[in-house]
Amino acid sequence: MKVLIIGRGGREHSLVQKFAESPQVTQVYAAPGNAGMQEQAECLPFSETDHEKLVGFAKDQQVDLTFVGPENPLLDGVVDSFQEAGLQVFGPTKAAALIEGSKHFAKQLMQKYEIPTAQYAAFTDADQAKEYIQKQGAPIVVKADGLAAGKGVVVAETVKQALKAVDDMLLNQQFGEASEEIVIEEFLEGEEFSLMAFVHGENVYPMVTARDHKRAYENDEGPNTGGMGAYAPSRVVTEETYQYAIENILNPTARALLKEDRFFSGILYAGLIQTTEGPKVIEYNARFGDPETQVVLPLLENDLFQVITDVLENKDPHLRWADEACAGVVVASAGYPGSYEKGVQLPKWTPSEEVFTIHAGTKSNGEHYLSDGGRVLLFGAKGETLASSLEKVYQALKVFEPQDKFFYRTDIGRSVSVSPDQNVE
Ligand code: AMP
Ligand code: GLY
Repeated sequence: MKVLIIGRGGREHSLVQKFAESPQVTQVYAAPGNAGMQEQAECLPFSETDHEKLVGFAKDQQVDLTFVGPENPLLDGVVDSFQEAGLQVFGPTKAAALIEGSKHFAKQLMQKYEIPTAQYAAFTDADQAKEYIQKQGAPIVVKADGLAAGKGVVVAETVKQALKAVDDMLLNQQFGEASEEIVIEEFLEGEEFSLMAFVHGENVYPMVTARDHKRAYENDEGPNTGGMGAYAPSRVVTEETYQYAIENILNPTARALLKEDRFFSGILYAGLIQTTEGPKVIEYNARFGDPETQVVLPLLENDLFQVITDVLENKDPHLRWADEACAGVVVASAGYPGSYEKGVQLPKWTPSEEVFTIHAGTKSNGEHYLSDGGRVLLFGAKGETLASSLEKVYQALKVFEPQDKFFYRTDIGRSVSVSPDQNVE
C-alpha cells in the first residue's frame, strides 16, 4: 500500500513513522515533508495547498490512502479535491472542517446541540463588542473567528485588555479576514486536556487523552506557542470524566455535524477544560493536534493503516492502547515564538531505542541538520510511568545544553496544579 501524508511538521513526521510501521505499507510519501522524514518517506516538492499537483501525483502513483495533517489544506478543500478525483483520503471536507475554521460556527453548533462550552456572543461591530465586555467585566476571552495560527485568542485579565483586543481584531484587522468577526466568551478555569478521535459520520473511536503545554516558558509563563511539549494520557482525567467527554462532547459533536449536513470524516480534536461543572469545550480542531500526536500515536498498538481502512468502511478498528505513558519535549530556536535565527547547526545526538526523535523545523546540508523553524524537534519516550518517560527525554536533551541557541521547557508533565496523589513523583 502507498500512503501520502500532506504536511511538513512534527505531527506529520509522527504520522510517517506510524504508517511506516504498518506491515501493509510499502511506500510513504510526504508533501512537502521535512528533513527528518527522509529516512522513511519520499518527500515531494509540492505545497500543502497545491491541489492539482497533489491529486495528480496520487493518481499517477496509484496512492492508496492520503492523510491530511494541517488545518490550512483542509479548509482550502483539499479533501474535496481528492474525493472529486475518486481517491481515498482521510480528513474532513471543507464544509466539515469549518468546525475549526470558524469559532462562531463551532459555538452555534455547541449551543444548538447543547454541548458544554463557555457562554459567548459574536460580533462584527466594535462598539457593540465593547458594550458587551463592559457589561460582562473581566476576566473575559476574545477570539478571532477564523484561523490565526494559534495566535487569535486573548485571555484578557482586565476590561482594558479586552477592549484593546477588540480594537486590534475588528478595527485594525490584526488577523485580516480571520478577525472580521470575533467571539467573546466567558473565562473558564480548570485543567486543560485534549481528546481526539477517529471519526466517520456518527462513528467515533476515541484516543487516549493528552496534555499540551502551550506557553513558551516554565510555569506556563510567556507567550503562547504552537506547543512546547505534551504527554499522554493526561493524569488529571479520571475514567468518569473521559467517558463523560465521549458521551457528552465527542459523540454529540459528530452527530451534530451529520445533522447539519457536514459529514465529518477524519480526526476530531476537542480541546477541553475540566471545570467544576465537568469538562467543557475550549476549541475544536478538525485534525490531529501538534504536539499531542507525537505522544499519542506511540501508544497506539494497532496498525494505523488498518485503523483508517476500518474507520472508512464503518468497521470498529478495536483500538488498543499501551498501558504506559508517553512524554515529548520540544526543542525550539532561541527567540521563538518571536523572531529567531534559521540555519543554526544542531548538535549531533546518538539515536537510541528508548528515545525517539521527531523533526519539525529542520533541514539537512548533507552532513548536519540545521534549524529551519521555530519549533525544531521533539524528543519523546514511553515509560511505565510519566516520571520514567520524562527522565529518559530529559537525559537525552542534555545534548542541547547550554541552552543558548536552542531552548526547551524543563517542566513538561510537571507544571500542572494537581492534588498530591496525582503528583508525578
Ligand atoms: P484556543 O486557540 O482556542 O485553544 O485558545 C488558546 C488558549 O487560550 C487555550 O488553550 C486556553 O488556555 C485559553 N482559552 C481559550 N478559551 C478560553 C476560555 N473560555 N477560558 C479560559 N481560557 C481560555
Ligand atoms: N496542540 C494544539 C493544536 O494542535 O492546535
